[in-house]
Amino acid sequence: RGRFLALWVAEQTCVSLPPTPFPYWCFLGPGQPCDCLPPLRAAAEQLRQKDLRISELQADLRRPPPAPAQPPEPEALPTIYVITPTYARLVQKAELVRLSQTLSLVPRLHWLLVEDSDGPTPLVSGLLSASGLLFTHLAVLTPKAQRLREGEPGWVRPRGVEQRNKALEWLRGRGGAVGGEKDPPPPGTQGVVYFADDDNTYSRELFEEMRWTRGVSVWPVGLVGGLRFEGPRVQDGRVVGFHTAWEPNRPFPVDMAGFAVALPLLLAKPSAQFDATAPRGHLESSLLSHLVDPKDLEPRAANCTRVLVWHTRTEKPKMKQEEQLQRQGRGSDPAIEV
Ligand SMILES: *[C@@H]1O[C@H](CO)[C@@H](O)[C@H](O)[C@H]1NC(C)=O
Repeated sequence: RGRFLALWVAEQTCVSLPPTPFPYWCFLGPGQPCDCLPPLRAAAEQLRQKDLRISELQADLRRPPPAPAQPPEPEALPTIYVITPTYARLVQKAELVRLSQTLSLVPRLHWLLVEDSDGPTPLVSGLLSASGLLFTHLAVLTPKAQRLREGEPGWVRPRGVEQRNKALEWLRGRGGAVGGEKDPPPPGTQGVVYFADDDNTYSRELFEEMRWTRGVSVWPVGLVGGLRFEGPRVQDGRVVGFHTAWEPNRPFPVDMAGFAVALPLLLAKPSAQFDATAPRGHLESSLLSHLVDPKDLEPRAANCTRVLVWHTRTEKPKMKQEEQLQRQGRGSDPAIEV
């Protein structure tokens, strides 16, 4: 269009020149006499520059994209499946926001969030879709008989058993997703499974430690079992025992946050799951004893000398003032999600 315009300008301008064939000669190369006005030459030069630029850009487009950068593309990384049981309480959203934003820092991660409820709740559904994570939303209500009774301390009954088992079922192709990615990993998927409760604190480094797990990998957990940390004792790169103050003779005295299992191993042992009736402190063992011999545990985190996950507990918020205001009909707006 620009060229057409310029020719039109030429026609209008070179009126004094012979009318045929066309005033192209005004543009033609060196040696040609040109009485045309200097603006015409300038316009021609501008056109030439633009043509040049266009062909440069076209050449750029034809060039293949630059080679992918090192290290390996995210596609080649094993996927980390993070299984998180969660239940409704005042701090639930705060905990899940904190955890989801930690998980956002980790490439190739798939979050399996399992609610202790009949079905998906709006709070969790909304949080998941806003998280930007690859996720699968699951829900299963803990049977009444297993539920913690009012006033019972948390350690009496293992929590989150049904929910973790539900996620294992989904991984094994038995479905049940209520949101997010519905299809389980296709056969042969390289991956690792980690049980991450929603109240702990996780370093992003932890996830790279577990990513290349072959069987079951282990590492220390901070602020647990009444100790600064609990964890495997390692000699010459092998697990030879456990640092723990409590029942050290359990088959696997490891915390839920202290191990990860290779996905192919979990799929190869379809009966491996958590046992809700396991005695106190034996829940982890109830899964792991199906999967691995203690001597074959793979120590991570610099031979278990680095703490990269902490058993933090969020204090239960006191709602005295809220209850007082509610009695006066002036409670915080229930339409605002907290
Ligand atoms: C762990 O210990 C083994 C054996 O002593 C050693 O070869 C290896 O380099 C250690 N790994 C790390 C990450 O410190």
